[in-house]
Order: sequence, then C-alpha cells, then structure tokens
Amino acid sequence: MAAIATTLKRGAALAGAALVGVSLLGFAAYSARFGLRGLVLDLADETYLFSPGSPGLNAAIFVHMILGALAMLLAPLQLVPRVRARHAWLHRLAGRVIAGAAVVVALGGLGYIAARGTIAGPGMDAGFALYGLLMLLAAVQAVRHARAGDLVRHRAWALRLFVLVMGSLIFRLHYVLWFSLTGGLGSNEQLTGPFDQLQYVAFYLPYLVALEFWLRRRAG
Ligand code: HEM
Repeated sequence: MAAIATTLKRGAALAGAALVGVSLLGFAAYSARFGLRGLVLDLADETYLFSPGSPGLNAAIFVHMILGALAMLLAPLQLVPRVRARHAWLHRLAGRVIAGAAVVVALGGLGYIAARGTIAGPGMDAGFALYGLLMLLAAVQAVRHARAGDLVRHRAWALRLFVLVMGSLIFRLHYVLWFSLTGGLGSNEQLTGPFDQLQYVAFYLPYLVALEFWLRRRAG
C-alpha cells in the first residue's frame, strides 16, 4: 500500500513538473521571440508596446523580454541539488547570468513604466513597479550574500528571486486558469476589471509571503 502511495506521489510530482516545464518553455519562447521581433522590426501596427521613434524605449522593453526569458529558463537549474554539489562552477555562472539578466529586466520594465506607463494606468504601474524594485533587490542581495559566503541569506534571497522571475509566467497562468474557469469574468482588454486589479500584485506577493512562512518554519 505504502509503495503504491509513493509511486502515485512521484507520478503526480513528475506530471506537475512536466506541466510547469511545458508552460515555462512555451512562455519563454513567446517572450524571447516577441523581444527579438521588437528589436529588429517595426511593430507599431501590432502592439502598443512599440514606441515609434523611440529606439531607447523599445530597447528597454524588448531586451527585458529576451533576458526575462533567459532568466526564466536558467532559474530551475539552480534548484537542482546535484548541480549545486557537483558542478559548483555551473551554479555560480548561471547565478551570475540570472542575477545580471534580472537587473536588466527590472530596469527595462521600470524605465518603460516611467516613460509610458502600463496599459491599465496607475494601479498596474504601482503593482509592476513594486515587482521590478523587489526583483532588483533580490538579485543584488542574492549575489552580495553569495560573495560574502553567507549561504543561509544567499539561499533565502535566491529563492525570493526565483519566485519573482517565475512571477511573469504565473501572471499568465492565472489568466489561463481564470479564463478557462469563468470565460474572463471581471477582466477586460485594458486590464482594469476587478480580476485584473487583483492581478497587479497577485502574481508575486502571495507567493513571496508563502515563501517567507516556509523559510521561517525551516529556520525555527
Ligand atoms: C522573467 C521576467 C519577465 C519576463 C519573461 C517578462 C516578459 C514580458 C512580456 C513577454 C511582456 C509583453 C506583454 C505580453 O505579451 O504579455 C512584458 C510586458 C511588460 N513587463 Fe515584463 N517580463 C518580466 C519581468 C518584468 C518585471 C520585473 C517588470 C517590472 C518592472 C516588468 C514590467 C513589464 C511591463 C511594464 C510590461 C508592459 C505592460 C503593459 O502595459 O502591457 N516585467 N513582459
């Protein structure tokens, strides 16, 4: 009986990991492709995110999509204990790339918010600006504590950064789930409906809070 339960648990964990992996690959591919197209093509007729005559602003938002995809693809590698134990150089290299990418992603997003604002206006601006500031902080702190050899603090900040990097995917997954369940109740194209307003922070804050509880329970 116990063996069957263990097999079922492992199967469910594998299926869950596969589902997350497929969504992650799909969104990273979308994000990287969108970013690359925005850098080399004139997307003015296709998306409001393209700013005609503002190459700096376009670079900020489209490079943020490409490096966001890169950080998202590399981040799960950092959680694999075998990589950390046997290939420390790879863990350190990937960590630097993720942190560097996260800084550029956050600055690109913050720059875009400052210059153009988000589609939904002040509420979404505030939620996304806080998201960017937290990502900046987590990236800097994760590297700083690793360099100082404080592995407990490094791990906590690296996990916060992981949650934040995945936040962008979680944002889209919330919408996929919600639209499948309700057909889009409380959501509109301008992202100003009640469900949208909840999403301005719901894709990272609850997950960060859950992580804090988990970190505290492990430490105590
Ligand atoms: C791994 C991290 C991230 C990835 C992969 C990512 C990717 C994307 C993508 C693909 C878009 C285009 C919108 C869409 O098609 O859905 C976008 C838009 C945007 N992102 Fe990010 N992003 C990330 C992190 C961030 C962060 C940290 C900020 C905060 C500063 C941010 C701010 C924005 C803003 C302001 C927009 C435009 C929103 C609008 O008005 O529609 N992103 N991002």
